[in-house]
Amino acid sequence: MVRAMSTFAAPFHEVHNWAPDSWQQREALQQPHYEDAQELARCTGQLATLPPLVTSWEVLALKQALAEAQEGQRFLLQGGDCAESFADCTSPIISNRLKVLLQMSLVLVHGLKKPVLRVGRFAGQYAKPRSADMETRDGVTLPSFRGDLVNAPAFTAEARRADPQRLIQAHAHSALTMNFVRALIDGGFADLHHPEYWDLAWVEHSPLAAEYRRMVAGIGDSLRFMETLAGPIAGFSRVDFFTSHEALLLHYEQALTRQVPRHPGWFNLSTHFPWIGMRTAALGGAHTEYFRGIRNPIAVKVGPSVKPDDLLRLIDVLNPEDEPGRLTLIHRMGHAQIASALPPLLQAVRQAGRRVLWVADPMHGNTESTSNGYKTRRFDNIRSELDQAFDIHAVAGTRLGGVHLELTGEDVTECMGGARDLSETDLDRAYKSTVDPRLNYEQSLELAMLIVRKSGGMA
Ligand code: PEP
Ligand code: CO
Repeated sequence: MVRAMSTFAAPFHEVHNWAPDSWQQREALQQPHYEDAQELARCTGQLATLPPLVTSWEVLALKQALAEAQEGQRFLLQGGDCAESFADCTSPIISNRLKVLLQMSLVLVHGLKKPVLRVGRFAGQYAKPRSADMETRDGVTLPSFRGDLVNAPAFTAEARRADPQRLIQAHAHSALTMNFVRALIDGGFADLHHPEYWDLAWVEHSPLAAEYRRMVAGIGDSLRFMETLAGPIAGFSRVDFFTSHEALLLHYEQALTRQVPRHPGWFNLSTHFPWIGMRTAALGGAHTEYFRGIRNPIAVKVGPSVKPDDLLRLIDVLNPEDEPGRLTLIHRMGHAQIASALPPLLQAVRQAGRRVLWVADPMHGNTESTSNGYKTRRFDNIRSELDQAFDIHAVAGTRLGGVHLELTGEDVTECMGGARDLSETDLDRAYKSTVDPRLNYEQSLELAMLIVRKSGGMA
């Protein structure tokens, strides 16, 4: 899946007073309550013997690529489902998600004229933070659904029980997903000579599809022209793809935290690029403790209530040596708050001379509920937050180096607006998410085109 064998001098800084389980001495928010501690220990013990999902070589290659993104040489496209589910671990769902990401990255490469770093929210995105531990319906109170890694969505006591066997099942489903993605990529699915492989059956009549096809034709012409002159060009026949998820359930992450023969330190080998969610990013909390000790590149979601000083202290804890590529900050402010909340943070980090990759998540600050009970997002608000993010960075003298999106290759109607101007009543037609509303194909492509316009490229 990734070209990781090119080694480079990866700096190693020893981390003091840390162990894969030292997080257990801190307050761990958003963890399920397992009734049977012995059963949990049996499952995590088994998980710790299973092979990892990624390698340290790949992890370090991604860190290097993120260091280049920090220097403006690459743009990060990170996207996928809010939450994966075991039931969605199917061939069409996995390949359709890959198709949308590949199409978006093609738009970005063409318009930005720089390499795009593709990172999926998949192969492990199975745990969700919730605003309440318990949910009450018609007088019955049960634990909240926390993602397939923990329990099941049905509103019954059995389904909502935190089941440690799910740790093993999540690892297996991640491995199945990963295996299929790796096979597709290695088999030529992502070959730039064949972008028709990425066509989605149901979008034939989209106005954006026509614009996209024109772009593809242009790229095909250039490719043929160059290859006529220079012969087949290595590098166009495949792309790199990395994985990421919110490392929320720390028992799972700990069991997949490993040492390897050729690189010192500890690696989280459940994913290339774990992130800390907004709700668990407290300075003294268990998640920051766990993250500070692993060698992966890491990201932190930053919401509107974060104070500049706290952010600087968090950076000190997570990246004390200011290592290139190590730390990505994903701001998710909301369209109404970004203009006031983001500039002080950009200024503080810039003045402190700290090296981070700034990424915009225009999804999570823009969630609302409709009168008919759907959790949705207005495309205009998502677009507005992203649009403002570019301008705010330009004024601050910082660089927006990537986007973080929730999207799917399925024909869903979960976010309102976009090319087909989906309305509140359209949400009924194909609302499939059990958690956050995702962008569909057209909405995703439209954002990719917006990014190109805002970055001064051509769309
Ligand atoms: C998410 O990315 O699905 C999420 C819960 O985001 P945040 O941590 O920004 O709220
Ligand atoms: Co989400």
